[in-house]
Amino acid sequence: MAAMLATMGMAAEHNFEINVSKMGAPIQKTMYGIFFEDINYAADGGLYAELVINRSFEFPNHLAGWDVSGKVSVLADGPFDKNPHYVRLEPAGHAHKHTMIENRGFFGMGLKGGEEYRFSVWARVPDGGKSKIWIDLVENATMGEDQKLGNAGIEVSGKEWKKYTAVLKPRRSFGEAHLRVWGDAKVTTDLEHVSLFPVDTWKGRENGMRKDLAQALADLKPGVFRFPGGCIVEGTDLETRYQWKNTVGPVENRPLNENRWHYTFTKRYFPDYYQSYGLGFFEYFQLCEDFGCEALPVISCGLSCQYQNDIRNEKQVHVAVEDLDPYIQDALDLIEFANGDVNTTWGKVRADMGHPAPFNLHYLGVGNEQWDEKDNPVFTSRLKKFMEVLSKKHPEIKYIGTTGPDSEGWKFDMLQPRMKELGVDLYDEHYYRNEEWFLGKAKDRDGKLLNCGALRYDNYDRKGPKIFAGEYACHGKGKKWNHFETSLYEAAFMTGFERNADIVHMCTYAPLFAHVKGWQWRPDMIWYDNTNMFKTCSYFVQQLYSVYKGTNVLSCTMNQKPLAGQDDQDGLFATACFDKTMNAVILKVANVSNDNQSIRLNWTGKAKDIKAGYKEVEMITLSSYQMDAENSLDDPLKIAPKTEILSNDVNVLSVPAKAFQVYVFKK
Ligand code: AHR
Repeated sequence: MAAMLATMGMAAEHNFEINVSKMGAPIQKTMYGIFFEDINYAADGGLYAELVINRSFEFPNHLAGWDVSGKVSVLADGPFDKNPHYVRLEPAGHAHKHTMIENRGFFGMGLKGGEEYRFSVWARVPDGGKSKIWIDLVENATMGEDQKLGNAGIEVSGKEWKKYTAVLKPRRSFGEAHLRVWGDAKVTTDLEHVSLFPVDTWKGRENGMRKDLAQALADLKPGVFRFPGGCIVEGTDLETRYQWKNTVGPVENRPLNENRWHYTFTKRYFPDYYQSYGLGFFEYFQLCEDFGCEALPVISCGLSCQYQNDIRNEKQVHVAVEDLDPYIQDALDLIEFANGDVNTTWGKVRADMGHPAPFNLHYLGVGNEQWDEKDNPVFTSRLKKFMEVLSKKHPEIKYIGTTGPDSEGWKFDMLQPRMKELGVDLYDEHYYRNEEWFLGKAKDRDGKLLNCGALRYDNYDRKGPKIFAGEYACHGKGKKWNHFETSLYEAAFMTGFERNADIVHMCTYAPLFAHVKGWQWRPDMIWYDNTNMFKTCSYFVQQLYSVYKGTNVLSCTMNQKPLAGQDDQDGLFATACFDKTMNAVILKVANVSNDNQSIRLNWTGKAKDIKAGYKEVEMITLSSYQMDAENSLDDPLKIAPKTEILSNDVNVLSVPAKAFQVYVFKK
């Protein structure tokens, strides 16, 4: 009938009844969050505002990222024991030769004309006395007469290492600038930890974050922030796993780690992708505090990436169960770092970094995408050891296990009951799946419908661990970019999270960030170059869900039948909730069909009481005429939410549900 009316040019009208008296399951504050991983140059070259690549000269090629002229050598007895290398700039030996080092940044450096940039360096004059170094910000590919965008001089004195700073103000903007440091023509000078940051970082912090990107995260109003990944937690091998202790304390002495994403795809290979750890666990916790959300760190369980390491060689690439103690100790120390008193070892490290108050950690993930083999409990034998110690010592923390890399299949089926046996509080599910899966139509090889789409959680065990949908995104078949269609299906799918808020307690779209020149994986939620950024339509879907999260699920029927996102609902996926803070009733609708429909909204139950205060209904729409359309640096708001106010003084209202649109109605 609906299809027929649409063909006739008339909108089919469906009757939606939202019963405000029936306050359903509470929606957790953590429900919609952020998943952060240093993939696609998300940290160095992305959120972390440092503009200099290889600032400590610790890349295996110590001068990677640097061009040099004159007499430059690398020495290894510098002032920071975990980053011992530095450069020596000696006079070039000829009046017309110059000793200089030039850094190319991450795909260049994004500079904005008229804004301030703080240069800093640790330096000394090894032979004593004084020297003068010059700093230039340059438009190295200029067509004009002068490459210099800004410059400053610094006088270095004495044999002791000291930190020097200078603030530079480029005359004009340039997205791919370089930094040059010129040595003294007559005096040898040693330089270490050469750094350049915009002064205007997020919250003005010196070791700060890029303001536009951090703001985009804040605007998501996240309930939880998972860090530092992803596969990066595990590393390509154990040596390159993420070790949080290396990421705290003075930035100059945080040792470099290889980024496992530089190897992963030979089609998009980035041999200079390392982790400076300038954005480390302290900074992650600080961001959580800024955003007012829960921190969810994930730590290594002693298994390196199982995709990249054959489990049969377990002894070589994974820690044996009997040798896990240091890994478990890392977890205990992390809890102490976050929550411990300033007199504890790790609480003191936090306090020395400027945060004596605890960070109030409540969640901890153990392992990323790990799994058991059919005849070997590779993951759960390790998780069991963690749980035995952690749950006894810190019962106040909620622990998160995993059901592996797949949304279904033998690994998932094996792990799901084991998570319950082990008593984890939540388990982490991952699904990068196609359109059919997100619409609940995917089948296995035998033609059996998979448990997917908005119905996925309707029949889950209500007594097991809660769900953390820790990584998900709709990956279009042959269309792996952030276009409108996939975000529409994400919106439809997410109605199932909200309707099942009694067991789904967290979800985080992934990955979060991507540099347009440095990505390894897509789709991603937020894209940027060195100076600008844009939010994808998936970002806006996440934002609509998060901002209009609600505090309690409400019962909602469509033509007298419960709304569940099934075929007989004419492609309308919807969910309703009440928000006690906003004192509002919220309905989210995604119409994935190509029929223009309409909804007759009926607020019942306590609606009478609330009517007086609700004369208006806010209607927010996310739509696109083309399913393949996407936002871009050139057209960042091509697809963005639009708000209209509908007047309404009765508890019935006809609202549109046009083809291929996402709506939020707030009364
Ligand atoms: O989000 C990208 C990667 O996908 C994550 O690192 C990993 O957990 C998953 O396989």
